Amino acid sequence: MTTVITFGTFDVLHVGHLRILERSRSLGDRLVVGVSSDALNQSKKNRQAIFSESERCELVAALRCVDEVFLEESLERKREYVQKYAANVLVMGDDWRGKFDSLSDICRVEYLPRTPSISTTAVIEHIARTATS
Ligand code: CTP
Repeated sequence: MTTVITFGTFDVLHVGHLRILERSRSLGDRLVVGVSSDALNQSKKNRQAIFSESERCELVAALRCVDEVFLEESLERKREYVQKYAANVLVMGDDWRGKFDSLSDICRVEYLPRTPSISTTAVIEHIARTATS
């Protein structure tokens, strides 16, 4: 049984999120997702998430490719989370390339390419622009 773990905020869920989760799941038999807490997201992105941590967890957990969801409270605790969920593979988007190579002593570390031309930031900016024009 290969367990895959990945992390993210997954605010204003979009197809880039779905695709990385589906590709992550295809690398193993079980996918565990660490969803950034509201506090972690605020410190990471300097912006409050549109949807609360419990709503984001609920949405991600409802996806067919996701087996388990938990709240990620700190970027520094990745090693602990990998061990707690007995993950064999850690997947990150390639915007994080190289950043988690130090965990390769306990799991395989994969950086997958992001889906081009979409992000939560772009969706929010698009809505803000079109709502005021
Ligand atoms: N992701 C992806 N393709 C995209 C956007 C995100 O593969 N176009 C991946 C990220 O690499 C990450 C996961 O989805 O592994 C969660 O990313 P998150 O930061 O929540 O989403 P973004 O859309 O990148 O958010 P933001 O614009 O706020 O940075």
